[in-house]
Amino acid sequence: MTAPKIAVIGGSGIYDIDGLEGARWTTVETPWGAPSDAILTGTLGGTEMAFLPRHGRGHIHSPTTVPYRANIDALKRLGCTDVISVSACGSFREEMAPGDFVLVDQFIDRTFAREKSFFGTGCVAHVSVAHPTCPRLMDACETAAKDAGITVHKGGTYLAMEGPQFSTLAESKMYREHWGCDVIGMTNMPEAKLAREAELCYASCAMITDYDSWHPDHGEVDVTQIIATLMGNAEKGRDMVRRLPAILGPERPPCPHGCDRALEHAILTAPEA
Ligand code: ADE
Repeated sequence: MTAPKIAVIGGSGIYDIDGLEGARWTTVETPWGAPSDAILTGTLGGTEMAFLPRHGRGHIHSPTTVPYRANIDALKRLGCTDVISVSACGSFREEMAPGDFVLVDQFIDRTFAREKSFFGTGCVAHVSVAHPTCPRLMDACETAAKDAGITVHKGGTYLAMEGPQFSTLAESKMYREHWGCDVIGMTNMPEAKLAREAELCYASCAMITDYDSWHPDHGEVDVTQIIATLMGNAEKGRDMVRRLPAILGPERPPCPHGCDRALEHAILTAPEA
């Protein structure tokens, strides 16, 4: 049995966690460069927590320039066991409305201008990301979200796009009608893949801010609309996070899905090489 240490990576509109005891901002250095910002650490109800603003305070990193490898490595170095990603997304489903949360369980990764692995020359590894999110952590997020009065959809496919522009109408229709995607965003990849390589449990709570551009009754996506919905949602997101430690408990067995042992059968390079 081990104690969880829960990291929250907050997206647009979420720049800290309130109610943290002993809160302090810690600067962490990594071989992959500096993370997006310092990391806020402290405890919530006795459970250790870490919070990293994905875009940095002041929103200085675009989805392409977020230092994903440094972020995940820094959380690992701090001893985090679980990562909860909170981010904004657009919806491809009528029934997944702005204001709702989606606990993503699949991704289609269409990003192309980001470093996606800790492995390469010197040490080669191929981890499985067939099931890229952790069902144990998702269950906890679902309970916390429901307790916080959030309308939450468990399971959904997230199209990760490079951005920074939003999709064209043709792309939006293709992702929705032909690729079966449920939501779209710009930041969950390669974050989820890197969390798996770092043997961290990962869950993605995607907060719907808009209907992207496919919806005949809604106009084009714009940032003003996204910010307005995010501001309405930020308190709900924080309430969900506050409830997580009590749900996860002070101690628990190894991850039943093996997220914490993902490298066991993944490294090809010989130890002496
Ligand atoms: N983030 C929030 N809404 C989005 C959308 N429609 N497309 C991509 N990223 C988003």
